[in-house]
Amino acid sequence: MAASPGYWIFWLSIMMYLTPSGHSEDKTLEMIAAPYETIVLPCKGLIQSVTEDLHVSWMKMRAKTENNLLVYGFEKGKPTNKHQAYQFQNRTEMVFDWSGSWVNLTLKDVTELDSGVYQCQIYNEYGHWTQNITLSIKDKTWNVTAAPHETAHLPCKFPIKFGTDDLHVSWVKMGEKDKNLQVYGFKKQKPANQQQVSQFKDRTESDLDRSGGWVNLTLKDVTEMDSGIYRCQGYNANGSWTQNILLYIEDPKGRSHIFIIASVVVILILVTAFVC
Ligand SMILES: *[C@@H]1O[C@H](CO)[C@@H](O)[C@H](O)[C@H]1NC(C)=O
Ligand SMILES: *[C@@H]1O[C@H](CO)[C@@H](O)[C@H](O)[C@H]1NC(C)=O
Ligand SMILES: *[C@@H]1O[C@H](CO)[C@@H](O)[C@H](O)[C@H]1NC(C)=O
Ligand SMILES: *[C@@H]1O[C@H](CO)[C@@H](O)[C@H](O)[C@H]1NC(C)=O
Ligand SMILES: *[C@@H]1O[C@H](CO)[C@@H](O)[C@H](O)[C@H]1NC(C)=O
Ligand SMILES: *[C@@H]1O[C@H](CO)[C@@H](O)[C@H](O)[C@H]1NC(C)=O
Repeated sequence: MAASPGYWIFWLSIMMYLTPSGHSEDKTLEMIAAPYETIVLPCKGLIQSVTEDLHVSWMKMRAKTENNLLVYGFEKGKPTNKHQAYQFQNRTEMVFDWSGSWVNLTLKDVTELDSGVYQCQIYNEYGHWTQNITLSIKDKTWNVTAAPHETAHLPCKFPIKFGTDDLHVSWVKMGEKDKNLQVYGFKKQKPANQQQVSQFKDRTESDLDRSGGWVNLTLKDVTEMDSGIYRCQGYNANGSWTQNILLYIEDPKGRSHIFIIASVVVILILVTAFVC
């Protein structure tokens, strides 16, 4: 496969632009996740394939007096995780995405212990890239209770400092085996509901409250089928967040109905017992 001169001119110009001092994103990305979530830490360089000189490392940064922890290492075409910190064993996976030059890291089952600053470093023939990510694991679940046919208000707060430019928000209802149902989507300041499941059709609404930092969801005419765990997730160029909400649908009259029915049944049994 001979590469055309155009190909080399293209790469040389990119290399000249990128190599002098290496690239580091000055912006630290912020991610807020919920416990037990699987998260994807993004990292980008100029990578077209796995080359012999490609070196990627993910570290969890610690105080100056302590060594940083190795989260994931990749060298000479393969993972080098001999010195991977115990805390990250069997929980990491690196995903290459050539189209976008991404080397994202998947971290499964996060817990509060994983909170902290992560640093990704990429080295190859084209240069050196660094990206810092601050990860916080927040175990805050909102509980919402509503009666059947009422309108439920599911709160979701996003960090105002992320800004609202190009904010993507999606509401899902957690299903079994990670099969989540799309409840509501929000993209470029507009609803984006192509993936919405029929159960929620025409029953959802959401407003972006820029000053307060809310993207609450309104769910109309709820039924017991709507009970469950909802997850509000969003991101833009400054970071990402997740918020869990537990929705209970409780019929205040339901319990008294059941109580009356149960009492009648008991009385009938007693009466039958006496008669026979
Ligand atoms: C990334 O984090 C490390 C350790 O906290 C810090 O020394 C470095 O300056 C940060 N880099 C950027 C670009 O923020
Ligand atoms: C890597 O992360 C970026 C930024 O979040 C995302 O756009 C891209 O789709 C991800 N790629 C893979 C393969 O996960
Ligand atoms: C990771 O998986 C290996 C092989 O299944 C196992 O021996 C090891 O104990 C696991 N480590 C942790 C920290 O779970
Ligand atoms: C919400 O309910 C769950 C489960 O009942 C409970 O563990 C949690 O503490 C509650 N959260 C709040 C904020 O009340
Ligand atoms: C969103 O919900 C929260 C919590 O219930 C509430 O304090 C806030 O005012 C709501 N914001 C909007 C814009 O509805
Ligand atoms: C990211 O944050 C900066 C500073 O807070 C803000 O100026 C910028 O508009 C934000 N970016 C997006 C995509 O919202």
